[in-house]
Amino acid sequence: MTNIIEIKNIEKSYYPSRSVRVPALTGLSLCVREGEMIAIYGVSGSGKSTLLHILGGLDRPDSGEYILDGEVMGEKNDSQLARVRNEKIGFVLQDFGLIANRTAQDNVIVPVIFSKKSLREGYKRCKNLLDKLGIPELERRKVSQMSGGQKQRVAIARALMNEPKILLADEPSGALDSTTKEEIYAMFDMLRKEGKTIIIATHDHAIAQIADRVLQMKDGQLSEC
Ligand SMILES: Nc1ncnc2c1ncn2[C@@H]1O[C@H](COP(=O)(O)OP(=O)(O)O)[C@@H](O)[C@H]1O
Ligand SMILES: [Mg+2]
Repeated sequence: MTNIIEIKNIEKSYYPSRSVRVPALTGLSLCVREGEMIAIYGVSGSGKSTLLHILGGLDRPDSGEYILDGEVMGEKNDSQLARVRNEKIGFVLQDFGLIANRTAQDNVIVPVIFSKKSLREGYKRCKNLLDKLGIPELERRKVSQMSGGQKQRVAIARALMNEPKILLADEPSGALDSTTKEEIYAMFDMLRKEGKTIIIATHDHAIAQIADRVLQMKDGQLSEC
């Protein structure tokens, strides 16, 4: 299998004020093979979200190399980066990132609006995805009237809308009880079996049971564990 993600020695710091530097990633390297499920495990503040943002092309490292599915990300301008993100990456966030007063369908269709794909096909695909994720009855229900697990399924459906090769999930179980969490992990497992590459940032130990590899994030670097 080839590497779909290759990161070499990336560094990233934040500057909350001129005199303060907060190092978040300090020479991090990572290779992910296509179809792998990786868990990035680490305490709060260890740099997981920063890494996922860079992996997803939402942010850039200060230095180091990033090759995503053969594309050298450092050579891209902002709109090229946005295109790569839209085509190849699906994001699932802890707080779901959904529009509360709109329906599941309204939310799941959003990535299609930002692509050149047909809206008609999009609505068909939305229906199929809601079926697949076990929530066909939620199509017309407002997000504000859903449980945490239902919201997370809607968020996963939205992430899958543009058929990305890679799913990035930032603490996807953070807001869920343990039964619901297991159901969501089962969804990720199903998607992995279909060939998606999945990277999950978490501080939940249970993820180790389904991931192919668990990597420990510490002091802005990753180590196998
Ligand atoms: N926008 C920001 N401004 C300043 N510091 C930040 C910002 N985002 C993250 N950090 C800092 O970078 C480090 C890594 O944070 P983060 O990537 O959010 O870790 P995690 O997701 O593992 O909790 C922490 O020290 C955090 O305080
Ligand atoms: Mg985080």
